[in-house]
Amino acid sequence: MLGTSAGGGVPQWNCGCGGCTTARRTGTARTQDCLAVSADGAAWYLVNASPDLRGQLLAAPELAPAPGSRETPLRGALLTSAELDHTLGLLTLREAAALTVHATLPVRYALHSGFPVGPLLAPYTKARWHTVAPGQPVELDGGLRAEPLALGGKRPRYAADLPGEGWEGRSDWVVGYRFTAAGSRSCAVYAPGLAAWTPAVDRAVAGADVVILDGTFSTDDELAGRTGGARTSRGMGHLAVRDSLPHLARLPGPRYLYTHLNNTNPLAHPGSPGTGALARELAAAGAAVAEDGMLIEV
Ligand code: MLT
Ligand code: MN
Ligand code: ZN
Repeated sequence: MLGTSAGGGVPQWNCGCGGCTTARRTGTARTQDCLAVSADGAAWYLVNASPDLRGQLLAAPELAPAPGSRETPLRGALLTSAELDHTLGLLTLREAAALTVHATLPVRYALHSGFPVGPLLAPYTKARWHTVAPGQPVELDGGLRAEPLALGGKRPRYAADLPGEGWEGRSDWVVGYRFTAAGSRSCAVYAPGLAAWTPAVDRAVAGADVVILDGTFSTDDELAGRTGGARTSRGMGHLAVRDSLPHLARLPGPRYLYTHLNNTNPLAHPGSPGTGALARELAAAGAAVAEDGMLIEV
């Protein structure tokens, strides 16, 4: 787990709430949502490229270049959305000799129009863009297989009004991935954005060893309660922890870890007031909050 917070991080630079203030004082920061995954421990893929990517890469010895070279174990990046907190870090990768990016069609479209990171990177690195589609597994280096899972039609705010037909209503603006390794039954699911718990999510979770899922908000009205605004968790494309927990209880077996925690979420701040009852419910469902730097082996 390279980073486990939602956009803005913990603490968020302009937030003086109790949790962010404590995080500032104690140095218990969370960086923005990003994962590195490998089937063989040699070839690694990023899942998302957070704005904190440089520091995240430096903190992960597995991803360091071989001594005396500029070759690193990174083979590419897979994107779960076109949101800025998942894509700004692509610019950080411009020093790479080559860069392979896997993303769905609408995500690729957004990254070549509203946020034109594709054209911006072209003069810096040899970028290769590959389209992924829900239900169609991609075979990656080191025996890693990634199967995209359609999770929602929420577009980034910058892409709300992009011209072009057919982008509205697609369910692959946000995807998760079901990772498996060649010659093994190990399986990990990564779904930092989960708008609703559909039968497809049930199927993806079945038989998984670990499921890393959307922990943006603890309750549907959390953000409204903090900011006085009207935006609900569901309206922002995030099923609240309170609303996904019953599904975890219904589908026991995998180890469940919540990630992409917003700084308003009490669960993002261990030991803060308000975490007690919910944290106990998480534990009862076999779930926990993911932490930056966590290494998960399945
Ligand atoms: C999200 O996860 O909903 C987005 O990253 C929010 C945002 O930063 O606009
Ligand atoms: Mn986000
Ligand atoms: Zn805060």
